[in-house]
Amino acid sequence: MREVILEIKDLKKSFGEHQVLNGFNLKLYKGENLVVMGKSGSGKSVMIKCLVGLMAASSGSIKIKDLDITSLGQKELDVLRTEIGFLFQGSALYDSMTVRENLAFPLRRNRDKINTSQTTEEIVLEALKNVGLEHTIDLMPSELSGGMQRRVALARALILKPKIILYDEPTTGLDPITSKEIIQLMGTIQETYKTSSLIITHDVDCARVISNRMILLIDGTNYIEGTFEELSKSGDPKVKAFFKN
Ligand SMILES: Nc1ncnc2c1ncn2[C@@H]1O[C@H](COP(=O)(O)OP(=O)(O)OP(=O)(O)O)[C@@H](O)[C@H]1O
Ligand SMILES: [Mg+2]
Repeated sequence: MREVILEIKDLKKSFGEHQVLNGFNLKLYKGENLVVMGKSGSGKSVMIKCLVGLMAASSGSIKIKDLDITSLGQKELDVLRTEIGFLFQGSALYDSMTVRENLAFPLRRNRDKINTSQTTEEIVLEALKNVGLEHTIDLMPSELSGGMQRRVALARALILKPKIILYDEPTTGLDPITSKEIIQLMGTIQETYKTSSLIITHDVDCARVISNRMILLIDGTNYIEGTFEELSKSGDPKVKAFFKN
């Protein structure tokens, strides 16, 4: 039996009258790349925010490594969060900090999380090397291209060596070549660190390359699940719509 690392059961979330998630379920197995695809506005970011406790669910259960996150206090939630890398939609770097400071930031409070004799400087440099950007260490985010910002954000998400990585639209807003580079980087990271990843995207190419398994989020629920192969051959018009272009 494969180990379940993260599980969402019957997740509901509404804003006033607007029901965004209406009984969403997923299981992320150890070591896999699970892609959740859904139209813009379908609730993908809302789902991932509920998952990390940035937003309260209306109902449902969310378990990460057998811990029910809805029952955790702030302190326990903070500890759990250090085991999860989160690449935000956009890049969400701190504009007023250099690349070095952006990467060192998560280390400040969680230095003990990393079992190494390396200095902060060495950890930051290694993380930047992993994404091929060690030369940008003293630059400000505004001095980087969009693709470089995304790579720095990825380096920051990985700096505490998390076992679970959540990607919210890792390739959106990037040109096809840069997207490809980011997707390759995601693959390398999974192979190197044996991470389990939940990837939210509406980029079909990204899903094709990176996914071991996919879920389509339609009408607030997990409409269909399967491999890219299986889903892309589906005759269901709602499913076909995703793979048309
Ligand atoms: N804080 C909020 N208050 C009210 N409504 C919200 C809030 N956050 C999200 N929504 C609504 O929830 C719905 C889903 O938003 P969400 O950001 O999850 O979409 P998405 O699937 O991530 O879309 P995209 O692909 O464009 O990123 C939208 O209709 C949005 O307006
Ligand atoms: Mg979103």
